Amino acid sequence: MLRPVLYAVFISSAIALPETGWYPKYHIAPQHGWMNDPNGLIYFQGFYHVFWQYNPAAPQWGLMHWGHARSPDLLTWEHLPIALAPSLPGDIDGAFSGSAVLLNETLTLIYTGVSENGTRQVQMVATSQDGVAFEKLGVVIGGNESNFRDPKAWWQDGSWYVVIGAQTADERGQVSLYSSPDFFNWTPQGVLAQADPSLGYMWECPDFFSLEGKQVLVVNPQGIQSKGEDFQNLFQTGYFVGSWAPGGNFAVERGFRELDHGHDFYASQTFEAPDGRRLEIGWLGMWESQFPENASGWAGMLSLPRELTLSDQGDLEVRPLREIQSLRTERLEVPQTLHIAPGGGVAILQNISHSEVALDFKLHNSSSNSFAIQLTKESFERDGGAQVHVDRNCSRVFLERHYPAYNITRSSRSVAVNLTGNLSLDIFIDGSSMEVFVNDGQAVMSSRIYPDAELRTFLITAQNGSVAVDRLKVWDL
Ligand code: FRU
Repeated sequence: MLRPVLYAVFISSAIALPETGWYPKYHIAPQHGWMNDPNGLIYFQGFYHVFWQYNPAAPQWGLMHWGHARSPDLLTWEHLPIALAPSLPGDIDGAFSGSAVLLNETLTLIYTGVSENGTRQVQMVATSQDGVAFEKLGVVIGGNESNFRDPKAWWQDGSWYVVIGAQTADERGQVSLYSSPDFFNWTPQGVLAQADPSLGYMWECPDFFSLEGKQVLVVNPQGIQSKGEDFQNLFQTGYFVGSWAPGGNFAVERGFRELDHGHDFYASQTFEAPDGRRLEIGWLGMWESQFPENASGWAGMLSLPRELTLSDQGDLEVRPLREIQSLRTERLEVPQTLHIAPGGGVAILQNISHSEVALDFKLHNSSSNSFAIQLTKESFERDGGAQVHVDRNCSRVFLERHYPAYNITRSSRSVAVNLTGNLSLDIFIDGSSMEVFVNDGQAVMSSRIYPDAELRTFLITAQNGSVAVDRLKVWDL
């Protein structure tokens, strides 16, 4: 009998797949098959390693493997053989998300093994000497739980720790904490954090790290109700800020807030770069999203690596990885202030495919209270596409998209921004993604976009007044 995996390979090489221009150049995406969460981020023997939830058999979620790529600089990625495939009784129904540590010079993964038709989740370990071939060592934290997954491990003060996403008996999200002297024998250390009834029935992919003297807990709750402009996606990635030391409780000082405000960002993971920066990569996707690229045999991509810092007020600041600047080839610099007349739309450039667009506005120079940066044909309203819409009436920046040809109905996501002074936008476009960084770290919005070739013109439009663009630069990356 033909096994499903071979069948899929046969199909994809036998038929011509559509060329859409959606495959990214400087983001990680599967060459074929399906991708969700980033896993096991680590720097090991001169390479950054990124793994991901991977279904090699089809461009949709299925039997989870760990896909794998490495890079010397986080910019150019070499795809490597599958790192983990279901093979043991404990992971026969899937190798779910997890993390990586360096254990006695060995690259060591801790991940969730799924069995019994997805109802049993245990934590398992695999190691690699060369960072390419992995040997499984089996279950290290057992049990019979059906919602007990996504271990994130670290070393601190002479001990290993791991946080695991879990659920309380009355179905609220929870993070469980374990410790170990050797990474193999783990002792429960109780509950690190628990959802109040408004914060979801299950917390996936927890992450716990110190930043600027505080402790940050990132969780991905399932089941939060949307509230006004907040929590608009099916599930969210968000964070708490507090304090913690080994042996103590996590004392929350700032409650749950979203980490990214776009349509497609989930299950992020952080790691420490060799120079001490806290870097984060997320899945540019959401379970309700369409993934029309699957007609070309692949689905899903990861975000740009981002640098995380914490402001004095306890807000996470998110900036694009600074190394990205080395990819820049200048395409356009507007040396003097560019004035957009009321009601006017100015087409700036065509064929924006793999680019960075940076704009600064001194808002006291602009009388318009509603202006937009669009990636469309001639008009977002008429032709669809994507736009970053700045609305000074409600002090919010919106990321809106509309691709009716791919069943993506018009919808927006937004974030509150103080729009009385200066506004800077740093927008990264890579085939089928748009990541909008607002005010140098203040907020980020990430969405997948699906422009056909004619929907790649970059325009600026102004309503009810004029807009002065004080700095405009475009680079191809
Ligand atoms: C989050 C998640 C994880 C799980 C993985 C399965 O997106 O549901 O909790 O480990 O995806 O692919």
